[in-house]
Amino acid sequence: MTFIGDRQELCDLAIEVAKKAGELLMKRPAVFDLSEKSSVLDFATQMDIQSEALIVKSLLEIRPDDGIVGEEGANRESKSGVTWVIDPIDGTVNYFYGLPGWNISIGVKDETGVIAGAVFSPTTNSLWWATRGGGAFYNGLKISCNNPVTLDNALIASGFGYDRSARVSQSADIAKLLPIIRDVRRNGAAAVDLCYVAMGAVDAYFEEGLNEWDLAAGGLIATEAGAVISDRTGGAPGKSMVLAAGPALHRELLAALAI
Ligand code: IPD
Ligand code: CA
Repeated sequence: MTFIGDRQELCDLAIEVAKKAGELLMKRPAVFDLSEKSSVLDFATQMDIQSEALIVKSLLEIRPDDGIVGEEGANRESKSGVTWVIDPIDGTVNYFYGLPGWNISIGVKDETGVIAGAVFSPTTNSLWWATRGGGAFYNGLKISCNNPVTLDNALIASGFGYDRSARVSQSADIAKLLPIIRDVRRNGAAAVDLCYVAMGAVDAYFEEGLNEWDLAAGGLIATEAGAVISDRTGGAPGKSMVLAAGPALHRELLAALAI
């Protein structure tokens, strides 16, 4: 069966399922069971795994022919042309330490790229969503990124991956920017950082080493809110760099990072 479906319908399903996973995750376990992933810094809790299982089951119950790409290993080829890109807890370190901002990020893509996505952060009661061409929303209100913002006034979010050696170049970027911008924020969850750009809660966000599930929903939400997203050369964003900002600041950041 081939059924792509309406973008808003797909978005509504992403929202419904993200909320369901949020309910599960708000029941914080008394004891954490940690499994190591790419490095000793990178781990999943039993809740990352349970959240992904719940999301996959809920999506496939409604759309059994869709594909899945999930951070905790869910992988399924699409027969419908639609694939769900899932981060069952974005900000696992925040979740483990009991800090806010962790979220559930669910993007939906077809052969043209991401067409809808939702990011739900239960501890801050925040829900962001977007459909391609339909704008970006925060708790029901249409949002747009800050533009124009000059570099010297810019509040910029960033993040550091789990690869210790990559942190050398990441800290070099921060050292370069810090003296010439307003300030830096490290919130601990890439999808929310992108949503913060979308709603103007920060002016820009950049990070190296993001995976598809970190970027899918938040990237669409930021783009639909008017942000430009690229790598550090102005090409497509990817593992080497995701740089998101309103168009004016984005141009200045590309130039500043190139020096
Ligand atoms: C991580 C968070 C963090 C970012 C890392 C991501 P995870 O996602 O988004 O803010 O700096 O690059 O991997 O591992 O908690 O899903
Ligand atoms: Ca995750």
